[in-house]
Amino acid sequence: MNYDVVILAAGKGKRMGAGKNKMLLEVAGIPIILHTLLAFESDKACSRIVLVINESERDIFSSFLSHFNITKVVKMVQGGTERQDSVYQGLKVLSGEGIVLIHDGARPFVKKESIARVTETARDEGAAILAVPVKDTIKKVLDHKVQETVERSDLWAVQTPQAFRLPLILAAHRTGLQRGLQATDDASLMEQTGQTVAVVEGDYQNIKITTPEDMLIAEQFMRNKKGSVQN
Ligand code: CTP
Ligand code: MG
Repeated sequence: MNYDVVILAAGKGKRMGAGKNKMLLEVAGIPIILHTLLAFESDKACSRIVLVINESERDIFSSFLSHFNITKVVKMVQGGTERQDSVYQGLKVLSGEGIVLIHDGARPFVKKESIARVTETARDEGAAILAVPVKDTIKKVLDHKVQETVERSDLWAVQTPQAFRLPLILAAHRTGLQRGLQATDDASLMEQTGQTVAVVEGDYQNIKITTPEDMLIAEQFMRNKKGSVQN
């Protein structure tokens, strides 16, 4: 099942504290964003990539694309202040009734099998996200006092890619803009506008590289991946 993907790389990487966009940091010798781009470039089902960037980094991203022979990026668009703004800028480039995936550039370990499952589920149900059951016990805390222990079996940590029929997610973003809704992921805009979102179980390796310790984990994962057959 073919799809298009919007890949987000227009953040600032503040929590990484590297003094530059974390997308440019290297894992196993190449920038994080290239690992992510190569995962989709090498997926036969991926038709087109829209890459969302900071305008000031356009030249460096362009040079990555040519050096690594990435051919599926049809457009590099300027992102917005919040992730949600960046997603909308990317979605606006696309047209048609097909499936679009939205993926964090900071998740380079996404597996083709997970991409395929979330894509198929979105085709059947309109909207689907990858998620994994939460491993830790989670408590609700206010002013450093426990308010409540939340039932763990109900809790899932959501990941990307998130997959949608393009007209549905575009409509959710437009409604979100009109109503001033805010969301840290795309599915929550769908939820807030009354759409059902299906959950597909992903895997724990699909981490979002966010803080410095994630870089160590990422190096280790990449080392394990080399030598094993890439899926
Ligand atoms: N992103 C984006 N546009 C924004 C904010 C985030 O395209 N305005 C992208 C990031 O580049 C990243 C993904 O969305 O690939 C997930 O966001 P996050 O992990 O929060 O990255 P940053 O926003 O860069 O990091 P931080 O929040 O620590 O500043
Ligand atoms: Mg952020």
